[in-house]
Amino acid sequence: MRTPQDYCDGAGPLNAIQAAAPMTRCEQLPPPWRILGAALIALVISGCGESEPARSATPIAPSVELDTGRPVRGVRPADLVRFQALPAYSEPDWVTRNFVAKGRLPPVQERLPREPLVFGSAAMPDGQGVYGDVLRQITGGRPEGWNYSAGQSQGWGGVDIGTMECLTRTGPLFLVDREALEPLPNLAKAWTWSRDGLQLTMDLVEGAKWSDGHPFTSDDVMFYWLDNVLDPNVSPLNGASDDSFGPGTKLEALGRYKIRWTFKRPFPRDYLYQMAYGKFCPGPAHVLRPQHPRYNRANSYQDYKQAFPASRMNFPTMGAWVVTEYRPDDILILRRNPYFWKVDASGRQLPYLDEMQYRLLGWNDRDVQVIAGGSDLANLESPASFVEAMRGAAKPGAGYRVAFGPRTSAYSVLMNLSGNGWGEPDTRGQALRNLNRQQAFRQAITMAMDRKSLGQTQVGGPFIKPYAGGLLASSPFYDAQATRMFDHNPSAARALLSSIGLVDRDGDGYVNYPPDVLKGENVTAILTASPDTITERTLAEGVLLFARDAGLRVVLRFASGPQRDALVASGQFDWVLARHDTTELTTVVQGADALAPMGPYTHKFHRAGPNGDLDLLPYESEMVRLTKAFIATDNKAKRRQLMSRYQLVSTEQVNAVGLIQFPGGLLINKRIANVPPGTPTIMFNWAEDALMRERLFVPKARQSRHELRPGTLPGCFACRPSAGRGKP
Ligand code: GLA
Repeated sequence: MRTPQDYCDGAGPLNAIQAAAPMTRCEQLPPPWRILGAALIALVISGCGESEPARSATPIAPSVELDTGRPVRGVRPADLVRFQALPAYSEPDWVTRNFVAKGRLPPVQERLPREPLVFGSAAMPDGQGVYGDVLRQITGGRPEGWNYSAGQSQGWGGVDIGTMECLTRTGPLFLVDREALEPLPNLAKAWTWSRDGLQLTMDLVEGAKWSDGHPFTSDDVMFYWLDNVLDPNVSPLNGASDDSFGPGTKLEALGRYKIRWTFKRPFPRDYLYQMAYGKFCPGPAHVLRPQHPRYNRANSYQDYKQAFPASRMNFPTMGAWVVTEYRPDDILILRRNPYFWKVDASGRQLPYLDEMQYRLLGWNDRDVQVIAGGSDLANLESPASFVEAMRGAAKPGAGYRVAFGPRTSAYSVLMNLSGNGWGEPDTRGQALRNLNRQQAFRQAITMAMDRKSLGQTQVGGPFIKPYAGGLLASSPFYDAQATRMFDHNPSAARALLSSIGLVDRDGDGYVNYPPDVLKGENVTAILTASPDTITERTLAEGVLLFARDAGLRVVLRFASGPQRDALVASGQFDWVLARHDTTELTTVVQGADALAPMGPYTHKFHRAGPNGDLDLLPYESEMVRLTKAFIATDNKAKRRQLMSRYQLVSTEQVNAVGLIQFPGGLLINKRIANVPPGTPTIMFNWAEDALMRERLFVPKARQSRHELRPGTLPGCFACRPSAGRGKP
C-alpha cells in the first residue's frame, strides 16, 4: 500500500502491488497544495485511525494500526527474511573484476555463509534493486570510537545501527502482522525452546564473516556476554547488563554455531526482543579480546574502552558498510562490506548501495540538508521543520518527499524519584526529591503545563497532541478510558502546592518551603535539558514559563546530549526533559522491563542509593507487579487488562509529566527506492533499522555522482603498525 503522499509526488506506481492500490483525494488538489494536503491526509490517517484496513494481498502494508489499535493482516516474519542456500550468488561487477579476478578477495560464494539471510522480494516496496550509488546522511553526534561493547558511541544518527548487527532484529516489525509478531532472526538464524521453557537453544548463522574476513562464531557471542555484559567494569552502549536478560540467566556455547540460554522462568519470550538492537550486538572478539584487561594485564578498563579510537579505520563489523574514512567535524565515509552475509532473492549480495556517507553537522541540519538536496534520508523529528519540509516537497521539481509515520514521538519531564541518595543530592536537591515523591506535587506540575500551547509553539495545525504520560496513544495497548489527563489549570496547581505547605510567603511570585525546610527558601527545581535541538530548547523554556505561572521556580541547566545522558545515568538531576527514544511505551513487548523500576540499577529515573536499596513508592511497587505479570503471561486479554491498569496508575500518579506527542516523519530523496511507506521514526527501533537500509537502492536512470570513493572497498584493519601485528 502506498501512502497518499506517494501518489502526489508524480513518481507513479513502481510495482504491481502499488499499481493495485487505490487513488486518493490528494489527486484532486491543485499543486502545490497537493503535497501539503497529501501529507496532512497521511498525518490525519496515522493520527486518528482513519486509515484503510490493510489488505492481506498487500504484503507491505504499513502498520498504522499501531496508532489505532486495529489488527492488521499481512506480512509475516518469513516474508521479510529467511535463511536459504541459493543456486548462485553475485556482486557488483567492479568487485569481481578488480578484487576477485585479481586475487585480492575470494569469490563471493566463499565469502557468504552456507545459508545466507535472504530478503524476500514480495515484501520489498519497489522490488529487487540494482547496484550502485550512495546514501548520504547527517548525524549531530560524533564518534567517540568503535568499542561499543565497552560503551563507546559511534555517533548515533544510525551510524550505530549500521555498524552493529544483533542476535535478533525488531526494527522492521512495524510491518508485521500483529498476530505473527516475533523478532526477526538475524545473527541467530533459528531458535527452539525446551519443553519446560527454561532453555532456549539458538543456531547462529553458519559461515558468516566479519568485514575483515574473520569467521563470526559463538566465540564472539560468549566474549560479548562474559567479558562485557557480565563484567561489572564494562557497560556496553545501550546499557546491556545481566538484568537485561533476567537475574541468574546463563548462556553457554554448545558448538561453533550453537548457543544455549538457561532462564529462571519459563518461556521468557520478551528476551528475544532484548536480543535485538541495542542489547545483544556482539563485537569482534578477535580484535577486542587482546585489549581486554582479563586477557591483557598491561591494559586498564579505560585502555580497553579506548583501544579503538574514532580515527582507527576499518573496524570489523557484521554490518552492510564499514567505516573507511573519518574527518573530525566533517564526514564519515562507509564502503560496502565485501563479507556482508545478506542477499536478495536472486542471490545478489547486499547492500545495493556501494557507499554510505555521514556528514558530521548538527541535529537540526538533518532536515535542512535533505531539503537543500545535500542529504538523502533523515528522520524528521523536529516539529518546527514540518511545515517547511512539506512546503519544500510541494515545490515543482522538489528532489525529496516527506512520509509521515504513526504518532510515536513524545516528550515528557521525568522527575528523580530516588529519596535515598542516588546521585548524591545536596540539601536543596534532597528537599526537591522529597517533593518529587509526593503525588500532589507531581499532579500540581502536570496541571501547570499547558500542553496545547507547548504543542502550538512547535508547529501549528493538527500535528501535535497533548501527552498525558504513560503509554502513547500509538501503542496497541493504549486504553483511552484508563488515561488520566490533567487539564491545564494553574490555580488548581497552586491550590495543590499549598495543600502540601508550599505557599508564596515572601510575595516574589514563587512558592516557598515551610520555614523549617531550607529556611523557607523558594522551591527551585533544576530542569536538565539538551540544547542540541530547537524542540528541546523551546520545550524546556515552555516548562519554565508554565511552572512559573503556578508559582514554581524552575532553573534550566542545558547539557548537550552525551553530558545530559551521563548526568541522568548517574542520578545527578532533579528533573530531566526526556525524548521518548526507547520502545516500551509504544510496543510494550519490547523492553517491557523499562516500564517500572524493576531492579536497583535498571530504571531511567529511579535507582538505588549508595546502600543498594530501592525506595519504591507504593504506586511504583504496583507498576512493578503489573509489569512482571505482563511479562509472565502470553494471554492477550490478560495483557491488555494489565496494561490498562498500568496506564491508570501511571497517569493518575503522574509517574512522568507528559508534554506532547506527534508523528515522526522521514525525508527521503526521491531517487532512493525501497523505503517502506509509513515507516515510524521510532517504534521497535529507529527508522534506520526499520527501513532496512541494506535493501535500499537507486534505479539506474536516477543514479547520482555523489559517491566519494567509487571502486574502493574497506582496507585492512589489523595490519596497521599500531595494532602491533601484521604488515603496515
Ligand atoms: C539519534 C537520532 C534518531 C536516530 C538515532 C539512531 O537519537 O535523533 O533520529 O537517528 O540517533 O541511534
